[in-house]
Amino acid sequence: MKKIFVNGYGSIGSRVTAFLKDDPEISIIGVGKYSPDEKVNLAISRGLKVYVPEKKLREFEGFEISGTIESVLDDCDLIIDASPGGHGFMNKKNLYEPKNLMAIYQGGETIVGDKAVSDLLFNSRANYDLSAGKKHVMQGSCNVTGMGRILEPLREKFGSKIIRFDVTLVRRWADIEQTEKKLTDTIEMTESPHHGDDVKTYFGEDAPLFVRAIKVPTRQMHLHIMDIRFKEIAPRPSDIHNIFVNEFGVATLWTAKGTKDVRDYANEMGFNFTDTNMIHIHANMTVSIGDTVQIMYSDDQTGIVIPENHMLMQSMLFGKSYEESFSHTESIFHMKEKKLKLEQRFAKKS
Ligand SMILES: NC(=O)c1ccc[n+]([C@@H]2O[C@H](COP(=O)([O-])OP(=O)(O)OC[C@H]3O[C@@H](n4cnc5c(N)ncnc54)[C@H](OP(=O)(O)O)[C@@H]3O)[C@@H](O)[C@H]2O)c1
Repeated sequence: MKKIFVNGYGSIGSRVTAFLKDDPEISIIGVGKYSPDEKVNLAISRGLKVYVPEKKLREFEGFEISGTIESVLDDCDLIIDASPGGHGFMNKKNLYEPKNLMAIYQGGETIVGDKAVSDLLFNSRANYDLSAGKKHVMQGSCNVTGMGRILEPLREKFGSKIIRFDVTLVRRWADIEQTEKKLTDTIEMTESPHHGDDVKTYFGEDAPLFVRAIKVPTRQMHLHIMDIRFKEIAPRPSDIHNIFVNEFGVATLWTAKGTKDVRDYANEMGFNFTDTNMIHIHANMTVSIGDTVQIMYSDDQTGIVIPENHMLMQSMLFGKSYEESFSHTESIFHMKEKKLKLEQRFAKKS
């Protein structure tokens, strides 16, 4: 059985461990904590072993720590790094590379410049096969993953008939459980957002994709507003929706008034962490005008990247094909069932 260490136990690390503990092919040997707070005992109460940096051992004296991060890595097959953006690169240099370990990094890192953690930004829908045999791979961020789930199927269906994608990302301020983070009553503009460049690493450097971003005071998901311009008359909304009927991780909803409706339903249904793990096309907002189709979809910021990490892990550790990984991920995340429930709950009214 392969041994996984999850370095960081915040929004992403806690979700990754919660799902991966159900995977009989691997064992989670522990999680890394850096602050001596209540989340240490929360992790322990969930049956996890907690490890801390050697130089911080004294700060954790009152807690039941299992050892140091430096030592646990000596007996580990792969690390899922879930540290705050930029720390993954430092961890690679200081911890993983010296021990010749495989690692997955999250969307706050980069694959360009002198702080690159990898030469591959993973998106299972676009470049699964490229991850086989790699030692260090970055999982795209939530917005970058969500865009892939929309752009790839559109390109496969319409190809060069599409001449341009314009996307406005309306980003959430904080995650649901980040109660310490205050929402500021403003609409913040993001200069030079990284998302377009990140998507182009798998969608093509010259792809006609133009992205801008703002941040709004909500915890309830991101919303992407996308205009797709065609060479000639644009397809009808139903032609667009049909492409996503069998797409993994894309639910088509008609009657959700807002993102909170979707999150509340996930909560009501007992989905883990109230995550849907997918994007939701708000089909009632799709409009076709002349050469342009306008669509909107919401993106479960925390949940969407967790099944992606699981697919990536299987490729790196076991060299599985896309189909093999996909079916194993499905057996743990039950994405088809969640999609069906969401689509039934928010079905078109006759
Ligand atoms: N939140 C999202 O919606 C989301 C979605 C997609 C991708 N991501 C990406 O996922 C990564 C993690 O984000 P997050 O939202 O989970 O952050 P988070 O909630 O702030 O959690 C970060 C965790 O990393 C730990 N940590 C601190 N320094 C570390 C270090 N040097 N090495 C390893 N871990 C360290 C923190 O420990 P202590 O609490 O003990 O200090 C904390 O448990 C980022 O790259 C982010 O961009 C986030």
